[in-house]
Amino acid sequence: MQQGSLTIVGTGIQLGGHLTLAAQAWIKQADKLLFAVADPVTAKWLQTLNPTAEALPYNTDCDRRRQTYGEMVDRIMEAVRAGGNICAVFYGHPGVFADPAHGAIAQARREGYSALMLPGISAEDCLFADIGIDPGKGGCQSFEATDFLIRQRKFDPNSHLILWQVALIGNRGFYQEGSEKRGLKVLAEVLQQDYPGDHQVVIYEAAVYYPVCQPVINHIPLHSLPQAKVTTVSTLYVPPIGPAPVDQEMMVRLGMDK
Ligand SMILES: C[S@@+](CC[C@H](N)C(=O)[O-])C[C@H]1O[C@@H](n2cnc3c(N)ncnc32)[C@H](O)[C@@H]1O
Repeated sequence: MQQGSLTIVGTGIQLGGHLTLAAQAWIKQADKLLFAVADPVTAKWLQTLNPTAEALPYNTDCDRRRQTYGEMVDRIMEAVRAGGNICAVFYGHPGVFADPAHGAIAQARREGYSALMLPGISAEDCLFADIGIDPGKGGCQSFEATDFLIRQRKFDPNSHLILWQVALIGNRGFYQEGSEKRGLKVLAEVLQQDYPGDHQVVIYEAAVYYPVCQPVINHIPLHSLPQAKVTTVSTLYVPPIGPAPVDQEMMVRLGMDK
């Protein structure tokens, strides 16, 4: 095993309140702290927890997010190879829709370093609490919105459906205002193959600065999705159209008919 280690932790979504005690301990004791978080207040706060804190490079000049994520992994690995205990912080859960976090863990392990990821509170966790749904009731499917469309993902309209990154549909680069309309139009058309146009869906944004700010829970009919206001942190929640029918034969096989 090489000297030095990498620990990747998440801040959760809410400033301060979502950080686990374990994540906080790793942040404080790290020899070098690197971070990629979505808001400037969290960035400042991390600097108060550990003065070595440094923002990971976030180059938006290229036309592929993949390239930017590669540059983040390169910076994390540079710090790991220099020795010491390195902690990298991502917002939310660091392993949920966070390519560079998984990429850095895999690379560190390939190079013989100890590497660990700690779980955090994701936007989806907040959605369950704020919208009041239980994934255990009817099941829950979660997809990245572009992946959902281009791979024609099979899904069950009788289950909860959560679509991430709806402001970036068809966009391999970075958000530009107004560019989301085309993708939202296509998404609305595709979803209307399985849901009625007046099906109520939710544009959701968990509150980062709670309780100063409240979450955005915007109920709209599916057909109006292309006109909806979305941001880079919007997630779309599509409720089930109703309960799935029960297979009587299966109930008999399972001895549930008595
Ligand atoms: C790159 S992913 C990061 C997810 C993050 N690691 C997590 O654990 O939630 C960005 C996407 O997460 C979702 N997201 C991030 N922040 C959010 C928030 N405050 N409310 C709702 N969804 C959010 C949106 O779908 C957004 O496009």
